[in-house]
Amino acid sequence: MPNISFLSDVTLNPEPSLSFRTIGGILDFYVFLGPTPENVVQQYTEAIGRPHLPPYWSLGYQLSRWGYSNIDVLKQTVERMEQYSIPYDVQYGDIDYMDHQLDFTYDKENYAGLPEFIQELKNDGLHYVIILDPFLSKDQPRGSYQSYDLGEQLGIWVNNSDGVTPAVGKALAPGMSVYPDYFNPKTAAWWAQMCIEFRNVLPYDGIWLDMNEPSNYLNGQYPGCAHNNLNYPPYIPRISGSSLFESTLCPDSKTYLGSLYDTHSLFGWSEAKPTYSAIQEATGKRPFVLSRSTFVGNGKYTAHWLGDNHALWEDMHLSIVGILEFNLFGIPQVGADICGFYLDTTFELCLRWTQLGAFYPLSRNHNALGQKDQDPGVFGIEFARIARSTLQIRYSLLPYLYTLFFEAHVSGNTVARGLMHEFPADLETHGIDRAFLWGPALMITPVLQEGARSVDVYFPDASWFDYYTGDKIPASSHNKYVSVDAPLEKIPLFIRGGSILPTQKPATRTAKSRLNPFGLIIAVDEQGQAYGSLFWDDGESIDTVESGNYFLTKYTYREGHLETRIVNNNYRGVDSLVYDTIQILGVTSKPRRVLLNGKAIRDDTHYHGNGKLTIHISAPLGEPLDITLQ
Ligand code: NOJ
Repeated sequence: MPNISFLSDVTLNPEPSLSFRTIGGILDFYVFLGPTPENVVQQYTEAIGRPHLPPYWSLGYQLSRWGYSNIDVLKQTVERMEQYSIPYDVQYGDIDYMDHQLDFTYDKENYAGLPEFIQELKNDGLHYVIILDPFLSKDQPRGSYQSYDLGEQLGIWVNNSDGVTPAVGKALAPGMSVYPDYFNPKTAAWWAQMCIEFRNVLPYDGIWLDMNEPSNYLNGQYPGCAHNNLNYPPYIPRISGSSLFESTLCPDSKTYLGSLYDTHSLFGWSEAKPTYSAIQEATGKRPFVLSRSTFVGNGKYTAHWLGDNHALWEDMHLSIVGILEFNLFGIPQVGADICGFYLDTTFELCLRWTQLGAFYPLSRNHNALGQKDQDPGVFGIEFARIARSTLQIRYSLLPYLYTLFFEAHVSGNTVARGLMHEFPADLETHGIDRAFLWGPALMITPVLQEGARSVDVYFPDASWFDYYTGDKIPASSHNKYVSVDAPLEKIPLFIRGGSILPTQKPATRTAKSRLNPFGLIIAVDEQGQAYGSLFWDDGESIDTVESGNYFLTKYTYREGHLETRIVNNNYRGVDSLVYDTIQILGVTSKPRRVLLNGKAIRDDTHYHGNGKLTIHISAPLGEPLDITLQ
């Protein structure tokens, strides 16, 4: 794994081998030996820094768009979510909330009452994330834009090649803009101060870092890039626009650490930690930062979305590739703009994308200015019903997803992973980019084609159970593609035998679902065994793992006997929580009786005939659980 921050061509050759052509820098090569792909990611993230543990609420469904023209439009969108009881945890404010697209301001005319409205949303269990751009307009009336004035006074911008005068580009905000140089510790301190002070104006919960390549509407800053070796190097790798300053600043601009020629690819990365720390200080809670530009190590601080896609079926398919890639990069909290950013989406595309997006690690619907609304409430009752039931599945599986993020944080595992991570010896899995897994246990096989009502699913050699019915996939379907029904209301999902998934009764907010009863889905393998775990904490405190303030339990199921082993019991929030439903998939016959901690509970047990057994219990989450089938 070479660590190259300079512009480079990387070519995959048939030998197989890789060729690197780079225009500068030190080539540090690290070789991570695996042997499995999952081991490689664990070793890689050990070297670069393991992903942070996201706040629990950020695993809920997120809604955004560019073009809520005023606060009433935003309110109507929120009401539609309410009207249809669609699970939803996060509302975003794109640049529309700002006064003339100026960072650290809000539009007091079109968004009059925004602070109070955000507070209302928060009282209702929602969280609000604001966008910030890494440029400040320099042409506001003197004394009216304090964030710029202070930055100017401190001299913290990216400079022209003279190292003294600020580089001036053009962004959305009126006038021309300058760019904070986050490599400069003075800039980081100024940025933190701005973020912290602004929280007293808008009580945000997280920050969305956009345009941090850094982006510029000019090619190079005003008045253009000089003809020298940095701006016009003898070789230019294949990049959009064939110029190093296409839609960005001139490479000979100066940052605290050197020319932008050297540091350009690290600009977004340099913004991550100061923003993360600022939110932590401003909120006193675990930060959520969503960044467009990322580099090696960003996963320690930020989530990522895949940028401006189109409302096209092919873009929906390609999003799976992006999600798997970013899990390899150690930035597992990743998603694409659900329903598509540019172009108007359609009912069917948006519905299928909502179903797929319900299984992105970061599940966010986002849309561009000028496109039609595409929130799940806008297409009518049928769409809303399907979106609701799919997102309820996400919410019911959040304890499993959160446990995967815990494992990513401590061991560097991927969260969403390609089938080849679990079945590396099965060469067919290496090319699969139309299906993926959550951890080792849940296979997601979305519909990616218009009009399709079935999906060809490849079942690697393992036990698999239909998530919806508990039916076992026959062994005759292993190692091949099998057509599986996928009517409009359903995204096919399969649970892998050998796994135990912790679940929780869903609600419209994680703040509520987190209080609901837990369940377990136990799917047995060919030996009748299954394993799993549950990580639980308060979902929002800082460094709970590092300080040991969490609950961790391991589950083992063998020979009709479920046992728990509590590994860490240091979060008292579990004391009011219970298990109420245990599902076992792959039971060979109806048990004569079921014992809970040694006592028979047969009346509350339902055998479905297909090997699925549902057991209703009431048992404390924080105490060992023992279930025996006899
Ligand atoms: C570009 C971002 O990629 C997009 O998500 C956002 O809506 C616009 N900038 C406007 O802020």
